[in-house]
Amino acid sequence: MKRTKVIDALARTDFGAEICVKGWVRSKRGSKGIFFIALNDGSTIKNVQVVGDEAQFDADMLKKITTGACLSVEGRLVESPAAGQASEVQAVRIEVLGTCGNDYPMQKKGQTFEYMRQHAHMRLRTNTFGAVMRIRHNMAMAIHTYFHEHGYFYFHTPLITASDCEGAGQMFQVTTKNLYDLKKDENGSIIYTDDFFGKQASLTVSGQLEGELGATALGAIYTFGPTFRAENSNTPRHLAEFWMVEPEVCFIDLDELMDLEEDFIKYCVRWALDHCLDDLEFLNKMIDKGLIARLQGVLKEEFVRLPYTQGIEILQEAVRSGKKKFEFPCEWGDDLASEHERYLVEEYFRKPVIMTHYPKKIKAFYMKIDDEKPVCGGREMEQTVQGTDVLFPQIGEIIGGSVREENYDKLIGEIETRNIPMKDMWWYLDTRRFGSCPHGGFGLGFERLVLFVTGMQNIRDVIPFPRTPKNAEF
Ligand code: 4AD
Ligand code: MG
Repeated sequence: MKRTKVIDALARTDFGAEICVKGWVRSKRGSKGIFFIALNDGSTIKNVQVVGDEAQFDADMLKKITTGACLSVEGRLVESPAAGQASEVQAVRIEVLGTCGNDYPMQKKGQTFEYMRQHAHMRLRTNTFGAVMRIRHNMAMAIHTYFHEHGYFYFHTPLITASDCEGAGQMFQVTTKNLYDLKKDENGSIIYTDDFFGKQASLTVSGQLEGELGATALGAIYTFGPTFRAENSNTPRHLAEFWMVEPEVCFIDLDELMDLEEDFIKYCVRWALDHCLDDLEFLNKMIDKGLIARLQGVLKEEFVRLPYTQGIEILQEAVRSGKKKFEFPCEWGDDLASEHERYLVEEYFRKPVIMTHYPKKIKAFYMKIDDEKPVCGGREMEQTVQGTDVLFPQIGEIIGGSVREENYDKLIGEIETRNIPMKDMWWYLDTRRFGSCPHGGFGLGFERLVLFVTGMQNIRDVIPFPRTPKNAEF
């Protein structure tokens, strides 16, 4: 008999029809000779209830139906007398496809997330991780749909690269060299000419630089793929391997870029509310009672657009008036710490904030330099750039982007002052030599979006197999 997915079985009302469902046992209980099995096949958070008369089944087979076992059930679809479900399956034949020993690591309910991370290969079968993974899939679909419908082309950028886009030196090397026998030149530097690529190569930290090549040919592109950062940040917001979405658009200014960022995030959040309500309701009940209200809130709010200098003034005023104490200083020129971002978003404005016009020295080399210098506390400050970070409640930075410096000479100037090896950049600089144009884009950390939309607390719990310092199991 053809298998019906649980999600479809639960929607059917042709009671009396023969049906076959397959899936894993969430729980089994019995009462007065009748057994009740909650069966889940991952198609939905909901289980289908399988009911049967114990006397009509082989006792040894019934003993094998334990939590986690995999079953094929044939029977009749019947209207359920139980509250909260329309239909259930009256079992006629049950086959145990895979038994499950009592050392099954997901047997007990209420395991800690830390425990589940140590069993990440099996945690996917739990309700919470099923919900998170279905929402993760839906966010990927929302991203592709949004950009496709807005005329952006999905553009594939390389994962192996020789240039450090963010210039932060956090790259994982890619080599086929024998690490026991590294040849060095007279200065003690490793010789790469005989390496696979004939030069030092790494995993990319961002597809942006190649994305700019695509955008300045196709007008508007987006990349969506894995990126890698060897930063030793053991925080609930950082992964060493994470997915990033990077749109890049020609003929866009800073205001239009912020409009795009806001419209895009709201589209994704709305998609979750429209397509994942069952999973969101589960997470709202089990993980975060404020989740759905927070998602709806983001859709209603207009994001605050706040120049960095004004942000610093707000933070300093909070300290001066005694309203707030911060662990880290916030002088003009400092990179904001997470506590500063959270104060602005969660306490001061109580809505998402798009921060702009950062000091040049704390941002990447490619950001467009502002014409005017800001004034802070009556004094003129250093140069700023047209960077935009979108700051979210609970998450902090969810997007980092900018208008790009399209002026060849200014860009070269930045590359030189920052000592970025020019020889690696020639192809990127050609965009500014041949038909240069104003353009901009941003990068959205995909897992940070999934964190926000699921209400999960740790980024390791929104990607199937997290990669973090000292952790590459599974
Ligand atoms: O701000 P970032 O470093 O920006 C870029 O890489 C630009 N090249 C993007 C662009 O303009 N095309 O990173 C972008 C976003 C961050 O805002 C954050 O959401 C996420 O990527 N991100 C991380 N997510 C998880 N783990 C990490 N280690 C992350 N580092 C950045
Ligand atoms: Mg950033």
